[in-house]
Amino acid sequence: MKVHLPVRKAILNRRTYEAPAEGRSDKLRLDFNENTTGCSPAVRRALAKLTTKQLAMYPEYQGPTRRIARYFGVHPEELLLTNGGDDALRVFFDTFVEPGTSILICEPTFPMYRYYAEIYDARISVLRYGSEMEFPLEGVIAALRKKPRVLFIANPNNPTGTLLQGEELRRILKAATHTAVVVDEAYAEFSRFTAIPSIRKNSQLFVARTFSKVAGLAALRLGAVVACEESLALVRRAMPPFPVNLAALVATEAAVADRPTMQAYVNGVKKLRAWFAAELVKLNVKTFRAKRSGTYSEAGKPRNSAPRPEQRHRARICAHHHWNAIRNAAVAENNSKRMEGSGLNPAPKRTHYATQSQDSSQDQRNRHPAEPASGWTRKGAHRHRNPLL
Ligand SMILES: Cc1ncc(COP(=O)(O)O)c(C=O)c1O
Repeated sequence: MKVHLPVRKAILNRRTYEAPAEGRSDKLRLDFNENTTGCSPAVRRALAKLTTKQLAMYPEYQGPTRRIARYFGVHPEELLLTNGGDDALRVFFDTFVEPGTSILICEPTFPMYRYYAEIYDARISVLRYGSEMEFPLEGVIAALRKKPRVLFIANPNNPTGTLLQGEELRRILKAATHTAVVVDEAYAEFSRFTAIPSIRKNSQLFVARTFSKVAGLAALRLGAVVACEESLALVRRAMPPFPVNLAALVATEAAVADRPTMQAYVNGVKKLRAWFAAELVKLNVKTFRAKRSGTYSEAGKPRNSAPRPEQRHRARICAHHHWNAIRNAAVAENNSKRMEGSGLNPAPKRTHYATQSQDSSQDQRNRHPAEPASGWTRKGAHRHRNPLL
């Protein structure tokens, strides 16, 4: 029997991007910006306490949401938990993007914006970072006049490290009258800048976060969207009932309760950043120093052309938080062998681097399990006391 599967055109047309995700555990792993030292030991202790009964139940979100909201200094109604940072980006497509409508991105940047746009059959308007990896602010403000559905800004940007702050963000938000502005703050703990304090005055602002990076929980998949209560209620309508697993919640609560471990990691990254940049200069690799964030550099291509997103795993070196792996790289002769044949510029021996609403009673009936019930207490919100931010 011949079967014809009715696959969507957008799926057939998608330019496949498959990350080299297998067999990486004994390598340098500088390609996904993972935390290279591991999460807090408190996470393992918390996970070990999970009971078989708990694992047999669908997860409950109120308590964890309240406690994680405290980490961000927001009310629980202003926080939506997602299945990793990638999922915190996908929700904007489900909520705002119809096939054929446009999203706006600035490249080079994190490739998942483009990845989802292709799946959702969105038009992709692209601006480029400048030759010194500066953000194309005027271009973005002009492009916002065309009312793209969503503007994605990685802040700081992966891979350039470019960081937008106060005035620049204010100008973007002012121009974004018909656009959801997603500020993807996967590395906010490193840049120490967050747009979260602006959510209440800017209903078009959505901040996406992840616990994969500084908290070291990439394997468990927990991300978040922070926005004003009314705007976030729209996104909640597009969510499945149980998007996040209990282990991720338990682990994240333990990780954020151990601030010293996270702070030590941030400090370590920052310490090695200058050294790393100096080593790259010695190797005659052009680096772009980004204010308060990472070091971006290119390898395996001409100095003055930025890599296209699909090349990120080959051509990117992003030193946000790879200090431990980089230190190991300096001594691990073995690794240099693995690097050979990876398409990178040959580097001298010894120094090889991997590249790379409160619910109304009417709404209460329709309330989604992931949606906060009206019983949230507002007392718990400690606005922006997070020392990591
Ligand atoms: C800018 C940016 N946003 C989001 C993510 C996704 O995070 P997660 O690993 O939690 O899906 C990453 C991961 O590399 C990233 O670099």
